[in-house]
Amino acid sequence: MRLLVTGGCGFIGTNFVYMMLRKHPDMVIVNLDKLTYAGNRFNLLPIENEFGGTRYHFVHGDIANAELVAHIITEHKIDAVVNFAAESHVDRSIADCNPFILTNVLGTQVLLDTARRLGLPKFVHVSTDEVYGTLGPTGKFTEETPLAPNSPYSASKASADMLCRAFFETYDFPVTITRCSNNYGPFQFPEKLIPLMIMKASRGESLPVYGDGMNVRDWIYVTDHCRGVELTLLKGKPGQAYNFGGNAEKPNIEVVKTILSALGQPETLINYVKDRPGHDRRYAMDYSMAARELGFEPEYTFERGIAETLEWYKSNEAWMEQVQSGSYRTFMDKWYGERQ
Ligand code: NAD
Ligand code: DAU
Repeated sequence: MRLLVTGGCGFIGTNFVYMMLRKHPDMVIVNLDKLTYAGNRFNLLPIENEFGGTRYHFVHGDIANAELVAHIITEHKIDAVVNFAAESHVDRSIADCNPFILTNVLGTQVLLDTARRLGLPKFVHVSTDEVYGTLGPTGKFTEETPLAPNSPYSASKASADMLCRAFFETYDFPVTITRCSNNYGPFQFPEKLIPLMIMKASRGESLPVYGDGMNVRDWIYVTDHCRGVELTLLKGKPGQAYNFGGNAEKPNIEVVKTILSALGQPETLINYVKDRPGHDRRYAMDYSMAARELGFEPEYTFERGIAETLEWYKSNEAWMEQVQSGSYRTFMDKWYGERQ
């Protein structure tokens, strides 16, 4: 299979590219990434060294550039797209939602349109549980739950899901949607709860917990999500949306206390701050359709996943420094410059 992966230099995309190239010896991946603040080409340096120019190709560019997308699909004889590219952070969408509309809505529309025009037989769009809005103390989201997004981020993702649905209904375009809960693991940018708290706790800084800390997320280790996307690509039904979750509902404060305790830091570092506007109270995923139709089951317990995540961040302090300062860009420009 010759795959166009978008946003492959971000957190989940990076983990997906590693997994797919190692697991599928016949697979070729073209990674189209704009390298926003969240995209780091350095993540995939070992892949570039091992497979660059043969089974792996990197293209620096925007999914909203129709000409570029068409060129990649024809030049590389692409037969499937997996769309990870997005602006992904809720707090940033509250501050300025413009880039979210440009990438998550218009960018997805350009990808869908171009792939349809060129007759691509497969398109997986990576969405999120946040399109369903929020849950009360009980129940779970199913694929039948109506979309009710509450943040500009989730509104942009829900809009893209609606476009996917319309492309299937109107043009019979074979697009499948994945909706997953909160991911954690290696390579996650330290603006999201778990890596941010690991970074701050290991430096002895105070940890900002929004509101009362009792908002609940259903945590899934990133490689479990990547397997869900892989199964959707290989076995998903066109026009279908599939839920993925980690069977690990936790209030934020419990996650924060687990991190503090693992790092031997005191709970006095916890700082309850003003709540996020429109903050969804609880997410929980019913993934029984993915279990039944795709054979999906998460492999990681939260205890195992958080232990491996803490270990990864401990062994990759330089990565944390690089992504925060953006200094890896200078390094990479030099590294690639010397090889041109
Ligand atoms: P991320 O922010 O870590 O990475 C996003 C990547 O997309 C970056 O490499 C960035 O450079 C790239 N990108 C942004 N705009 C682009 C554009 N216009 N053209 C090309 N590339 C562009 O995000 P992530 O956490 O890896 O999330 C990946 C996808 O999974 C997103 O669609 C997100 O909505 C979805 N998702 C994330 C989670 C989660 O917990 N992180 C859960 C469910 C779904
Ligand atoms: O559910 C899937 C979604 O998970 C993805 O679609 C998004 O791309 C991803 O960013 C994530 O969204 P959340 O808003 O749930 O993740 P975040 O890590 O920003 O926050 C997790 C919870 O922790 C949330 O209830 C807000 C809270 N929080 C977050 C930060 C950054 C804090 O209390 N303090 C913080 O500093």
